[in-house]
Amino acid sequence: MSLRLVVLISGSGSNLQAILDACGQGQSPSDQSAPPLAARVVGVLSNRADAFGLTRAASAGIPTAVLSHRDYADRAGFDEAMTRVIDAWQPDVVVLAGFMRILTAGFVDHYAGRLINIHPSLLPRHKGVDTHQRALDAGDAEHGCSVHYVTPELDGGPVIAQAALRVEADDDAGTLARRVHALEHRLYPAVIGWLAEGRLRCEAGEPLLDGAPLTTPLQLHATA
Ligand code: GRF
Repeated sequence: MSLRLVVLISGSGSNLQAILDACGQGQSPSDQSAPPLAARVVGVLSNRADAFGLTRAASAGIPTAVLSHRDYADRAGFDEAMTRVIDAWQPDVVVLAGFMRILTAGFVDHYAGRLINIHPSLLPRHKGVDTHQRALDAGDAEHGCSVHYVTPELDGGPVIAQAALRVEADDDAGTLARRVHALEHRLYPAVIGWLAEGRLRCEAGEPLLDGAPLTTPLQLHATA
């Protein structure tokens, strides 16, 4: 039995590609030596018709759907329409991968414990946008990315795992974005692997790893 993933995107979809590759659904899996995860992407939903991630999904033979938020009077109507599309794919886990819309509490509650997001900072630092510049402005020695369960509080749900890098003196927002992105492409498949193995789950809003509460986020370098 493989874990059924529905991935929500708004743009390039490089994280989607990393997940497809890790699941053995990519055209050229990045790491030929690793066996594919016991997970598969069963649908990709975008709120933008021009998202390149849709092309990636189509190339992998994955069903796609586009719902424009502009066609709905309010967030609740848009989120309900998304729920209908997503649920038709019967996901075990809904994966936000660069999905640039704020979700209603109704949507988040509907997928409670099976909705995850990747964010380009070491949460709880730098929630929201412009994370790379804000890490530089704050003089952070470390920066990175986090995968977390989604709650109604934006970027505020319990963090599952992080990958960190050292900020170098010559880094700018562009170099940090590229370096963090590369970490994201390892971190998201790792977390999905733990979910697929049944090691990671969420109960009553609390992440559990191997049955024990996850009191501090997993660090990719320590667990990979
Ligand atoms: C990533 O930086 C992710 O952390 C953020 O949106 C970006 C998506 O990139 N949530 P991509 O579309 O997967 O390339």
